[in-house]
Amino acid sequence: MQNIDKKLLFIANWKSNKTSEEAVSWLQAFKKNQSKINPENKTIIVCPSFLSIPAASLYIKANNLPIVVGAQDISGFESGAYTGEVSARQIREFCEYVIIGHSERRKYNHENDQDVHNKAEMAKTRNLKTIVCVQNEGVLVPKDSDFVAYEPVFAIGSGNADTPESITTVFSEINNNTGKTKLLYGGSVNAKNLESFLQIPYLSGFLIGSASLDPDAFISLLLKC
Ligand code: PGA
Repeated sequence: MQNIDKKLLFIANWKSNKTSEEAVSWLQAFKKNQSKINPENKTIIVCPSFLSIPAASLYIKANNLPIVVGAQDISGFESGAYTGEVSARQIREFCEYVIIGHSERRKYNHENDQDVHNKAEMAKTRNLKTIVCVQNEGVLVPKDSDFVAYEPVFAIGSGNADTPESITTVFSEINNNTGKTKLLYGGSVNAKNLESFLQIPYLSGFLIGSASLDPDAFISLLLKC
């Protein structure tokens, strides 16, 4: 299966970086260069911290930028008495997408497969598109996932991306195990290596951490496709 005529997802995962003001500055810089970008073949998704989501979303709307907003996490519970949680209903106010089960949440917040399942289920109740992260082909994928992101832990933030050959093998196993066809890769993706991934079967886009923090670095990556 080749990736012809497919809109690729470019997901900027800002993690625990940027204040609202810094998020808006990033968007201002993006706006200056947006005419260079071809929006026809890609969906650009920015995932700020929860607190920066409203400011980013308002700026994007006011300036009609070709960007949609996503959240980095979601509560596995309904709205209600769950102190500190952000529910699907609250996220849906501003976002179309949500990342679930990132390895950093599994590691630092001890999220397990059941949590990931609950979060995906909650996201679907509000029609949020789900990006479920798996660290290898053996990790459980909830049936409610729209996109499955393969992100090997060794590649995250290391500057040492997985190889196209290895990603091809893992994608094929994920497809065999789950039937899912919209697969993303994440882990040290940047403007230099992006093109090497473009022909991987089932590739539907990228999760980009470090190379999304600087607007110029992110734009130079978007210009590769
Ligand atoms: P990285 O992060 O691009 O900095 O490796 C990717 C991710 O964690 O989603």
